[in-house]
Amino acid sequence: MVTLLENPLRVGLQQDRIPEPQILTIFGASGDLTQRKLVPALYQMKLERKLPPELTIVGVARRDWSHEYFRDYCREGIEEYGGGLGNEQLWNDFAKGLFYCAGNIDHPESYQKLKAFLSELDDQRGTRGNRVFYLSVAPRFFAEAAQQLGNAGMLADPTKHRLVIEKPFGHDLASAQVLNRVVRQVCNETQIYRIDHYLGKETVQNLLVFRFANAIFEPLWNRQFVDHVQITVAETVGLEGRAGYYETAGALRDMVQNHLMQLFSLTAMEPPNSLDADSIRNEKVKVVQATRLADLENLDNSAVRGQYTRGWMRGKEVPSYREEDGASAESTTPTYAALKLYIDNWRWKGVPFYMRTGKRMPKKVTEIAIQFRDVPFLMFQSAAKQANPNVLALRIQPNEGISMRFEVKTPGNSLRTRSVNMDFSYDTAFGQPNTDAYSRLLIDCMLGDQTLFTRGDEVEASWRILTPLLQAWDAPAEADAIPLYEAGTWEPVEAELLLNRDGRRWRRL
Ligand code: BG6
Repeated sequence: MVTLLENPLRVGLQQDRIPEPQILTIFGASGDLTQRKLVPALYQMKLERKLPPELTIVGVARRDWSHEYFRDYCREGIEEYGGGLGNEQLWNDFAKGLFYCAGNIDHPESYQKLKAFLSELDDQRGTRGNRVFYLSVAPRFFAEAAQQLGNAGMLADPTKHRLVIEKPFGHDLASAQVLNRVVRQVCNETQIYRIDHYLGKETVQNLLVFRFANAIFEPLWNRQFVDHVQITVAETVGLEGRAGYYETAGALRDMVQNHLMQLFSLTAMEPPNSLDADSIRNEKVKVVQATRLADLENLDNSAVRGQYTRGWMRGKEVPSYREEDGASAESTTPTYAALKLYIDNWRWKGVPFYMRTGKRMPKKVTEIAIQFRDVPFLMFQSAAKQANPNVLALRIQPNEGISMRFEVKTPGNSLRTRSVNMDFSYDTAFGQPNTDAYSRLLIDCMLGDQTLFTRGDEVEASWRILTPLLQAWDAPAEADAIPLYEAGTWEPVEAELLLNRDGRRWRRL
Protein backbone atom coordinates (compact mmCIF):
# COMPACT_ATOMS: atom_id res chain seq x y z
CA MET A 1 0.00 0.00 0.00
CA VAL A 2 1.37 3.45 -0.87
CA THR A 3 1.03 5.69 2.11
CA LEU A 4 0.56 9.40 2.12
CA LEU A 5 4.08 9.89 3.39
CA GLU A 6 5.93 7.94 0.76
CA ASN A 7 4.03 9.04 -2.32
CA PRO A 8 6.88 10.34 -4.47
CA LEU A 9 4.60 12.18 -6.84
CA ARG A 10 3.71 14.75 -4.29
CA VAL A 11 5.92 17.71 -3.66
CA GLY A 12 4.79 18.65 -0.17
CA LEU A 13 7.12 18.18 2.82
CA GLN A 14 9.76 16.70 0.59
CA GLN A 15 13.38 16.30 1.20
CA ASP A 16 16.58 17.30 -0.40
CA ARG A 17 16.10 18.84 -3.80
CA ILE A 18 18.24 21.75 -4.94
CA PRO A 19 16.26 24.78 -6.11
CA GLU A 20 16.72 26.29 -9.55
CA PRO A 21 19.19 29.17 -9.89
CA GLN A 22 17.39 32.31 -8.74
CA ILE A 23 17.57 35.76 -7.21
CA LEU A 24 16.16 36.29 -3.75
CA THR A 25 15.43 39.98 -3.22
CA ILE A 26 14.91 40.99 0.39
CA PHE A 27 13.01 44.22 1.02
CA GLY A 28 13.91 45.58 4.45
CA ALA A 29 17.45 44.26 4.13
CA SER A 30 18.84 46.61 6.76
CA GLY A 31 16.42 45.22 9.37
CA ASP A 32 16.89 42.75 12.17
CA LEU A 33 15.20 39.80 10.52
CA THR A 34 17.58 39.87 7.56
CA GLN A 35 20.71 39.98 9.67
CA ARG A 36 19.62 37.70 12.49
CA LYS A 37 17.56 35.09 10.67
CA LEU A 38 17.38 35.18 6.89
CA VAL A 39 21.03 35.52 5.96
CA PRO A 40 22.30 33.06 8.62
CA ALA A 41 19.61 30.58 7.47
CA LEU A 42 20.66 30.95 3.84
CA TYR A 43 24.30 30.56 4.75
CA GLN A 44 23.56 27.43 6.75
CA MET A 45 22.03 25.96 3.60
CA LYS A 46 25.08 26.96 1.67
CA LEU A 47 27.20 25.03 4.18
CA GLU A 48 24.90 22.06 3.76
CA ARG A 49 25.21 22.32 -0.05
CA LYS A 50 21.49 22.81 -0.46
CA LEU A 51 21.68 25.99 -2.55
CA PRO A 52 22.33 26.25 -6.27
CA PRO A 53 25.76 27.84 -6.90
CA GLU A 54 24.11 30.66 -8.85
CA LEU A 55 21.89 31.74 -5.91
CA THR A 56 21.99 35.50 -5.72
CA ILE A 57 20.71 37.64 -2.87
CA VAL A 58 19.84 41.29 -3.34
CA GLY A 59 19.19 43.46 -0.32
CA VAL A 60 16.87 46.43 -0.75
CA ALA A 61 16.45 49.20 1.81
CA ARG A 62 16.47 52.99 1.97
CA ARG A 63 20.01 53.42 3.33
CA ASP A 64 22.69 54.24 0.90
CA TRP A 65 24.85 51.13 1.32
CA SER A 66 27.41 49.66 -1.10
CA HIS A 67 27.52 45.98 -2.05
CA GLU A 68 30.61 45.68 0.13
CA TYR A 69 28.88 47.21 3.12
CA PHE A 70 25.96 44.82 2.71
CA ARG A 71 28.36 41.87 2.48
CA ASP A 72 30.00 42.91 5.75
CA TYR A 73 26.60 43.31 7.35
CA CYS A 74 25.65 39.80 6.28
CA ARG A 75 28.96 38.40 7.45
CA GLU A 76 28.42 39.92 10.89
CA GLY A 77 24.97 38.35 11.01
CA ILE A 78 26.32 34.90 10.19
CA GLU A 79 29.10 35.21 12.73
CA GLU A 80 26.94 36.58 15.49
CA TYR A 81 23.58 34.86 15.04
CA GLY A 82 24.34 31.88 12.80
CA GLY A 83 26.71 29.00 13.18
CA GLY A 84 29.78 30.98 11.98
CA LEU A 85 31.43 31.13 8.56
CA GLY A 86 32.81 27.62 8.67
CA ASN A 87 35.16 27.97 5.80
CA GLU A 88 36.49 31.17 4.29
CA GLN A 89 36.35 29.91 0.72
CA LEU A 90 32.69 29.03 1.04
CA TRP A 91 32.02 32.46 2.49
CA ASN A 92 33.83 34.14 -0.42
CA ASP A 93 31.73 32.15 -2.81
CA PHE A 94 28.53 33.11 -0.95
CA ALA A 95 29.59 36.78 -0.72
CA LYS A 96 30.02 36.94 -4.50
CA GLY A 97 26.28 36.40 -4.76
CA LEU A 98 25.37 39.24 -2.35
CA PHE A 99 24.31 42.61 -3.74
CA TYR A 100 22.61 45.73 -2.50
CA CYS A 101 20.24 48.07 -4.29
CA ALA A 102 19.08 51.17 -2.38
CA GLY A 103 15.43 51.97 -2.93
CA ASN A 104 12.27 53.46 -1.47
CA ILE A 105 9.30 51.22 -0.97
CA ASP A 106 6.87 53.80 -2.35
CA HIS A 107 8.91 55.15 -5.28
CA PRO A 108 8.09 53.58 -8.66
CA GLU A 109 11.57 54.58 -9.91
CA SER A 110 13.15 52.35 -7.25
CA TYR A 111 11.35 49.35 -8.74
CA GLN A 112 12.44 50.25 -12.27
CA LYS A 113 16.01 50.53 -11.06
CA LEU A 114 15.74 47.20 -9.25
CA LYS A 115 14.19 45.53 -12.28
CA ALA A 116 17.07 46.63 -14.50
CA PHE A 117 19.60 45.53 -11.89
CA LEU A 118 18.02 42.10 -11.54
CA SER A 119 18.11 41.49 -15.27
CA GLU A 120 21.80 42.52 -15.33
CA LEU A 121 22.37 39.97 -12.59
CA ASP A 122 20.53 37.34 -14.62
CA ASP A 123 23.16 37.72 -17.33
CA GLN A 124 26.03 37.85 -14.89
CA ARG A 125 24.99 34.99 -12.61
CA GLY A 126 22.83 32.77 -14.79
CA THR A 127 19.70 33.11 -12.66
CA ARG A 128 17.33 32.70 -15.61
CA GLY A 129 14.70 35.22 -14.59
CA ASN A 130 13.69 33.23 -11.46
CA ARG A 131 12.77 35.59 -8.65
CA VAL A 132 11.69 35.46 -5.03
CA PHE A 133 10.71 38.79 -3.46
CA TYR A 134 10.76 38.66 0.34
CA LEU A 135 8.87 41.41 2.14
CA SER A 136 10.65 41.75 5.45
CA VAL A 137 9.34 45.29 5.97
CA ALA A 138 6.90 46.84 8.43
CA PRO A 139 3.46 45.31 7.78
CA ARG A 140 1.98 48.65 6.73
CA PHE A 141 4.17 48.48 3.60
CA PHE A 142 3.12 44.99 2.43
CA ALA A 143 0.34 46.20 0.14
CA GLU A 144 2.39 49.07 -1.28
CA ALA A 145 5.39 46.86 -2.08
CA ALA A 146 3.23 44.14 -3.69
CA GLN A 147 1.39 46.70 -5.80
CA GLN A 148 4.59 48.41 -6.95
CA LEU A 149 6.21 45.08 -7.83
CA GLY A 150 3.09 44.23 -9.80
CA ASN A 151 3.00 47.58 -11.58
CA ALA A 152 6.64 47.19 -12.53
CA GLY A 153 5.79 43.82 -14.12
CA MET A 154 8.01 41.97 -11.67
CA LEU A 155 5.37 39.43 -10.63
CA ALA A 156 3.99 38.79 -14.08
CA ASP A 157 5.23 35.23 -14.60
CA PRO A 158 3.51 32.76 -12.23
CA THR A 159 6.09 30.09 -13.02
CA LYS A 160 9.10 32.24 -12.17
CA HIS A 161 8.04 34.95 -9.71
CA ARG A 162 7.17 34.45 -6.05
CA LEU A 163 6.28 36.79 -3.24
CA VAL A 164 7.00 36.05 0.43
CA ILE A 165 5.06 38.02 3.03
CA GLU A 166 6.03 38.06 6.69
CA LYS A 167 3.53 38.06 9.51
CA PRO A 168 1.31 39.65 10.69
CA PHE A 169 -0.81 39.41 7.56
CA GLY A 170 -3.29 42.19 8.33
CA HIS A 171 -4.19 43.36 11.82
CA ASP A 172 -7.78 42.10 11.75
CA LEU A 173 -10.18 40.37 9.39
CA ALA A 174 -11.01 43.44 7.30
CA SER A 175 -7.40 44.46 6.76
CA ALA A 176 -6.37 40.88 5.94
CA GLN A 177 -9.16 40.74 3.34
CA VAL A 178 -7.99 44.01 1.81
CA LEU A 179 -4.38 42.82 1.74
CA ASN A 180 -5.40 39.53 0.13
CA ARG A 181 -7.34 41.45 -2.50
CA VAL A 182 -4.44 43.78 -3.27
CA VAL A 183 -1.91 40.98 -3.50
CA ARG A 184 -4.17 38.83 -5.67
CA GLN A 185 -4.55 41.69 -8.11
CA VAL A 186 -0.86 41.45 -8.92
CA CYS A 187 -0.23 37.72 -8.64
CA ASN A 188 -1.88 34.31 -8.24
CA GLU A 189 -2.32 32.52 -4.95
CA THR A 190 0.29 30.01 -6.23
CA GLN A 191 2.88 32.80 -6.14
CA ILE A 192 2.10 33.97 -2.59
CA TYR A 193 4.06 32.58 0.36
CA ARG A 194 2.64 33.84 3.68
CA ILE A 195 5.32 32.84 6.11
CA ASP A 196 4.81 31.62 9.67
CA HIS A 197 8.10 30.36 11.04
CA TYR A 198 6.34 27.89 13.36
CA LEU A 199 5.49 25.79 10.32
CA GLY A 200 9.21 25.48 9.60
CA LYS A 201 9.92 23.90 12.99
CA GLU A 202 10.82 20.23 12.77
CA THR A 203 8.52 19.18 15.60
CA VAL A 204 5.56 21.05 14.13
CA GLN A 205 5.96 19.12 10.89
CA ASN A 206 6.28 15.97 12.95
CA LEU A 207 2.70 16.47 14.08
CA LEU A 208 1.55 15.25 10.68
CA VAL A 209 3.81 12.23 10.76
CA PHE A 210 2.87 11.40 14.31
CA ARG A 211 -0.83 11.56 13.58
CA PHE A 212 -0.94 9.97 10.16
CA ALA A 213 1.96 7.50 10.07
CA ASN A 214 0.90 5.71 13.25
CA ALA A 215 -2.15 3.49 13.36
CA ILE A 216 -2.80 3.63 17.08
CA PHE A 217 -3.43 7.31 17.77
CA GLU A 218 -5.84 8.41 15.07
CA PRO A 219 -8.70 6.16 16.27
CA LEU A 220 -8.49 7.91 19.66
CA TRP A 221 -8.18 11.42 18.21
CA ASN A 222 -11.78 12.53 18.67
CA ARG A 223 -14.53 13.50 21.09
CA GLN A 224 -15.14 9.93 22.14
CA PHE A 225 -11.73 9.63 23.81
CA VAL A 226 -10.32 13.12 24.19
CA ASP A 227 -11.43 15.21 27.17
CA HIS A 228 -9.70 18.40 26.09
CA VAL A 229 -6.57 19.78 24.44
CA GLN A 230 -4.14 22.37 25.85
CA ILE A 231 -1.77 24.32 23.63
CA THR A 232 0.88 26.36 25.42
CA VAL A 233 3.44 28.73 23.95
CA ALA A 234 5.24 30.30 26.90
CA GLU A 235 8.19 32.63 26.46
CA THR A 236 10.66 34.06 28.93
CA VAL A 237 11.52 37.11 26.82
CA GLY A 238 9.83 40.45 27.31
CA LEU A 239 9.40 43.22 24.80
CA GLU A 240 12.96 43.10 23.40
CA GLY A 241 12.88 46.72 22.24
CA ARG A 242 9.92 46.11 19.93
CA ALA A 243 7.40 48.46 21.56
CA GLY A 244 6.65 50.29 18.32
CA TYR A 245 5.26 47.11 16.83
CA TYR A 246 4.07 45.30 19.94
CA GLU A 247 1.99 48.14 21.39
CA THR A 248 -0.34 47.86 18.40
CA ALA A 249 -0.15 44.08 18.17
CA GLY A 250 -0.31 42.43 21.59
CA ALA A 251 -0.37 38.68 22.19
CA LEU A 252 -3.43 37.96 20.02
CA ARG A 253 -1.94 39.41 16.85
CA ASP A 254 1.66 38.57 17.57
CA MET A 255 1.23 34.91 18.54
CA VAL A 256 -2.32 33.56 18.62
CA GLN A 257 -3.62 34.42 15.14
CA ASN A 258 -0.60 32.83 13.51
CA HIS A 259 1.66 30.51 15.54
CA LEU A 260 -0.93 29.10 17.94
CA MET A 261 -3.55 28.74 15.24
CA GLN A 262 -1.06 26.74 13.17
CA LEU A 263 -0.42 24.36 16.06
CA PHE A 264 -4.15 24.15 16.60
CA SER A 265 -5.10 23.42 13.00
CA LEU A 266 -2.47 20.71 12.54
CA THR A 267 -3.66 19.05 15.75
CA ALA A 268 -7.34 19.20 14.93
CA MET A 269 -7.57 18.83 11.15
CA GLU A 270 -8.92 15.78 9.33
CA PRO A 271 -6.46 13.50 7.52
CA PRO A 272 -5.63 14.97 4.11
CA ASN A 273 -5.85 12.83 0.97
CA SER A 274 -2.22 13.40 0.15
CA LEU A 275 0.73 15.50 1.17
CA ASP A 276 0.46 18.05 -1.58
CA ALA A 277 0.13 21.63 -0.50
CA ASP A 278 -3.54 22.08 -1.23
CA SER A 279 -4.74 18.81 0.28
CA ILE A 280 -3.13 19.75 3.59
CA ARG A 281 -4.16 23.38 3.42
CA ASN A 282 -7.75 22.47 2.52
CA GLU A 283 -8.05 20.43 5.71
CA LYS A 284 -6.48 23.14 7.82
CA VAL A 285 -8.88 25.74 6.48
CA LYS A 286 -11.87 23.47 7.04
CA VAL A 287 -11.14 22.98 10.71
CA VAL A 288 -10.37 26.65 11.33
CA GLN A 289 -13.62 27.59 9.62
CA ALA A 290 -15.50 25.28 11.99
CA THR A 291 -13.90 26.86 15.07
CA ARG A 292 -15.31 29.54 17.37
CA LEU A 293 -14.73 31.11 20.75
CA ALA A 294 -16.44 28.99 23.40
CA ASP A 295 -18.97 31.58 24.56
CA LEU A 296 -19.77 34.40 22.19
CA GLU A 297 -22.37 35.93 24.54
CA ASN A 298 -19.94 36.29 27.39
CA LEU A 299 -16.38 36.68 26.20
CA ASP A 300 -15.01 36.33 29.74
CA ASN A 301 -15.93 32.66 29.48
CA SER A 302 -13.91 32.40 26.27
CA ALA A 303 -10.73 34.31 26.87
CA VAL A 304 -8.54 36.10 29.38
CA ARG A 305 -5.78 38.60 28.74
CA GLY A 306 -2.94 39.66 30.97
CA GLN A 307 0.08 41.93 31.15
CA TYR A 308 3.32 41.39 33.06
CA THR A 309 4.36 43.57 35.95
CA ARG A 310 7.84 43.97 37.36
CA GLY A 311 9.31 40.72 38.62
CA TRP A 312 12.30 38.40 38.76
CA MET A 313 13.65 36.23 35.98
CA ARG A 314 16.56 33.94 36.84
CA GLY A 315 17.63 36.07 39.77
CA LYS A 316 17.46 39.33 37.83
CA GLU A 317 14.82 41.99 38.31
CA VAL A 318 13.02 42.88 35.09
CA PRO A 319 10.76 45.88 34.41
CA SER A 320 7.01 45.72 34.00
CA TYR A 321 5.60 45.95 30.48
CA ARG A 322 4.58 49.56 31.09
CA GLU A 323 8.14 50.41 32.11
CA GLU A 324 9.67 48.95 28.94
CA ASP A 325 11.21 51.43 26.47
CA GLY A 326 8.54 52.79 24.18
CA ALA A 327 5.55 51.23 25.98
CA SER A 328 2.87 53.55 27.29
CA ALA A 329 2.68 53.92 31.06
CA GLU A 330 -1.06 53.24 30.80
CA SER A 331 -0.85 50.55 28.17
CA THR A 332 -3.51 47.82 28.14
CA THR A 333 -1.71 45.78 25.48
CA PRO A 334 -1.94 42.12 26.43
CA THR A 335 1.32 40.22 26.77
CA TYR A 336 -0.63 37.13 27.75
CA ALA A 337 -3.74 35.57 26.25
CA ALA A 338 -5.66 32.41 27.12
CA LEU A 339 -8.54 31.21 24.95
CA LYS A 340 -11.13 28.48 25.00
CA LEU A 341 -12.29 27.33 21.59
CA TYR A 342 -14.83 24.85 20.29
CA ILE A 343 -14.87 23.14 16.93
CA ASP A 344 -18.31 22.50 15.53
CA ASN A 345 -17.73 19.29 13.61
CA TRP A 346 -18.31 15.57 14.09
CA ARG A 347 -14.84 14.81 15.37
CA TRP A 348 -14.57 17.51 18.02
CA LYS A 349 -18.04 18.73 18.99
CA GLY A 350 -17.98 19.65 22.69
CA VAL A 351 -14.22 19.13 23.22
CA PRO A 352 -12.62 22.34 24.50
CA PHE A 353 -9.30 23.43 23.02
CA TYR A 354 -7.57 25.72 25.51
CA MET A 355 -4.64 27.77 24.33
CA ARG A 356 -2.38 30.20 26.14
CA THR A 357 0.65 32.25 25.32
CA GLY A 358 2.58 34.77 27.36
CA LYS A 359 5.79 36.70 27.60
CA ARG A 360 7.91 36.72 30.75
CA MET A 361 6.65 33.33 31.84
CA PRO A 362 8.93 31.26 34.09
CA LYS A 363 9.99 28.96 31.25
CA LYS A 364 10.25 28.87 27.48
CA VAL A 365 8.09 25.99 26.47
CA THR A 366 5.82 25.14 23.56
CA GLU A 367 3.64 22.10 24.01
CA ILE A 368 0.46 20.49 22.75
CA ALA A 369 -1.18 18.22 25.30
CA ILE A 370 -4.04 15.87 24.50
CA GLN A 371 -5.80 14.88 27.69
CA PHE A 372 -7.90 11.75 27.42
CA ARG A 373 -11.12 11.04 29.27
CA ASP A 374 -11.19 9.59 32.78
CA VAL A 375 -11.73 5.88 33.16
CA PRO A 376 -15.44 5.31 33.73
CA PHE A 377 -14.94 3.56 37.06
CA LEU A 378 -11.83 3.07 39.17
CA MET A 379 -11.52 -0.10 41.21
CA PHE A 380 -7.97 0.54 42.44
CA GLN A 381 -6.61 2.73 45.18
CA SER A 382 -4.98 5.66 43.58
CA ALA A 383 -2.64 8.23 45.06
CA ALA A 384 -5.14 10.82 43.86
CA LYS A 385 -8.92 10.40 44.37
CA GLN A 386 -9.32 9.67 40.71
CA ALA A 387 -6.65 8.03 38.56
CA ASN A 388 -4.80 10.69 36.64
CA PRO A 389 -6.09 10.79 33.10
CA ASN A 390 -3.78 9.76 30.27
CA VAL A 391 -2.03 12.67 28.63
CA LEU A 392 -0.16 12.67 25.38
CA ALA A 393 2.21 15.65 25.32
CA LEU A 394 3.91 16.79 22.14
CA ARG A 395 6.84 18.99 23.13
CA ILE A 396 7.51 21.38 20.27
CA GLN A 397 10.42 23.22 21.94
CA PRO A 398 12.77 23.07 23.72
CA ASN A 399 13.62 19.53 24.78
CA GLU A 400 11.72 18.33 21.70
CA GLY A 401 9.90 15.07 22.13
CA ILE A 402 6.70 13.22 22.93
CA SER A 403 5.56 11.77 26.21
CA MET A 404 2.63 9.65 27.25
CA ARG A 405 1.36 9.60 30.80
CA PHE A 406 -0.32 6.47 32.09
CA GLU A 407 -1.02 4.68 35.35
CA VAL A 408 0.99 1.77 36.70
CA LYS A 409 0.85 -0.36 39.79
CA THR A 410 3.28 0.74 42.47
CA PRO A 411 5.45 -2.10 43.81
CA GLY A 412 4.16 -3.78 46.99
CA ASN A 413 1.31 -5.86 48.25
CA SER A 414 -1.52 -3.45 47.72
CA LEU A 415 -3.03 -2.56 44.38
CA ARG A 416 -2.14 1.11 44.27
CA THR A 417 -1.58 3.12 41.14
CA ARG A 418 0.67 5.97 40.19
CA SER A 419 1.30 8.03 37.04
CA VAL A 420 4.46 7.53 35.01
CA ASN A 421 5.66 8.96 31.71
CA MET A 422 6.86 7.11 28.68
CA ASP A 423 9.17 9.50 26.95
CA PHE A 424 10.61 9.96 23.48
CA SER A 425 13.29 12.59 23.06
CA TYR A 426 14.50 13.84 19.70
CA ASP A 427 17.89 14.52 21.15
CA THR A 428 18.40 10.96 22.36
CA ALA A 429 17.01 9.42 19.18
CA PHE A 430 18.47 11.69 16.51
CA GLY A 431 20.53 14.45 18.16
CA GLN A 432 19.06 17.92 18.44
CA PRO A 433 16.82 18.85 15.51
CA ASN A 434 18.99 21.52 13.97
CA THR A 435 17.18 22.57 10.85
CA ASP A 436 16.39 26.19 11.38
CA ALA A 437 12.78 27.04 10.58
CA TYR A 438 13.75 29.83 8.17
CA SER A 439 16.17 27.56 6.26
CA ARG A 440 13.41 25.07 5.73
CA LEU A 441 10.88 27.65 4.61
CA LEU A 442 13.24 29.56 2.33
CA ILE A 443 14.22 26.36 0.54
CA ASP A 444 10.59 25.33 0.18
CA CYS A 445 9.72 28.68 -1.30
CA MET A 446 12.59 28.49 -3.78
CA LEU A 447 11.39 25.02 -4.71
CA GLY A 448 7.85 26.30 -5.20
CA ASP A 449 6.41 24.16 -2.40
CA GLN A 450 3.60 25.98 -0.58
CA THR A 451 2.72 23.25 1.92
CA LEU A 452 4.26 25.04 4.89
CA PHE A 453 2.86 28.46 4.02
CA THR A 454 -0.51 29.82 5.01
CA ARG A 455 -3.12 30.19 2.32
CA GLY A 456 -5.20 33.37 2.09
CA ASP A 457 -8.46 31.72 3.15
CA GLU A 458 -6.84 30.24 6.25
CA VAL A 459 -5.50 33.61 7.35
CA GLU A 460 -8.96 35.10 7.00
CA ALA A 461 -10.60 32.20 8.84
CA SER A 462 -8.32 32.61 11.83
CA TRP A 463 -8.83 36.38 11.98
CA ARG A 464 -12.58 35.69 11.87
CA ILE A 465 -12.42 33.58 15.04
CA LEU A 466 -10.59 36.32 16.92
CA THR A 467 -12.66 39.27 15.70
CA PRO A 468 -15.00 39.52 18.73
CA LEU A 469 -12.03 39.48 21.07
CA LEU A 470 -10.03 42.00 19.07
CA GLN A 471 -13.00 44.35 19.14
CA ALA A 472 -13.43 43.97 22.88
CA TRP A 473 -9.74 44.19 23.78
CA ASP A 474 -8.94 47.03 21.38
CA ALA A 475 -11.66 49.25 22.87
CA PRO A 476 -10.20 52.10 24.95
CA ALA A 477 -10.00 50.97 28.55
CA GLU A 478 -8.73 52.11 31.92
CA ALA A 479 -5.26 50.89 32.79
CA ASP A 480 -6.73 48.62 35.48
CA ALA A 481 -9.00 46.82 32.99
CA ILE A 482 -6.32 44.25 32.23
CA PRO A 483 -5.40 41.49 34.68
CA LEU A 484 -1.74 41.55 35.70
CA TYR A 485 0.79 38.82 36.41
CA GLU A 486 4.25 39.18 37.83
CA ALA A 487 7.13 38.63 35.40
CA GLY A 488 8.56 35.20 36.07
CA THR A 489 5.24 33.67 37.12
CA TRP A 490 2.55 31.77 35.24
CA GLU A 491 -0.79 33.25 34.20
CA PRO A 492 -3.02 35.71 36.00
CA VAL A 493 -5.51 34.14 38.34
CA GLU A 494 -8.36 34.94 35.90
CA ALA A 495 -6.79 32.54 33.42
CA GLU A 496 -6.70 29.81 36.06
CA LEU A 497 -10.42 30.34 36.52
CA LEU A 498 -11.08 29.87 32.80
CA LEU A 499 -10.22 26.20 33.28
CA ASN A 500 -11.19 25.78 36.93
CA ARG A 501 -14.77 26.68 36.03
CA ASP A 502 -14.75 23.60 33.80
CA GLY A 503 -13.22 21.45 36.54
CA ARG A 504 -9.84 21.46 34.80
CA ARG A 505 -6.37 22.91 35.38
CA TRP A 506 -3.57 24.25 33.23
CA ARG A 507 -0.68 21.89 33.04
CA ARG A 508 2.30 22.86 35.18
CA LEU A 509 5.21 22.75 32.79
C1 BG6 B 1 7.54 35.91 16.66
C2 BG6 B 1 6.92 36.93 17.58
O1 BG6 B 1 6.73 35.69 15.55
O2 BG6 B 1 7.71 34.70 17.37
C3 BG6 B 1 7.78 37.13 18.82
O3 BG6 B 1 6.78 38.17 16.89
C4 BG6 B 1 8.03 35.80 19.50
O4 BG6 B 1 7.15 38.02 19.72
C5 BG6 B 1 8.56 34.78 18.50
O5 BG6 B 1 8.97 36.01 20.54
C6 BG6 B 1 8.64 33.40 19.13
O6 BG6 B 1 9.28 32.51 18.27
P1 BG6 B 1 10.07 31.25 18.80
O7 BG6 B 1 10.53 30.56 17.56
O8 BG6 B 1 11.17 31.76 19.66
O9 BG6 B 1 9.09 30.44 19.60
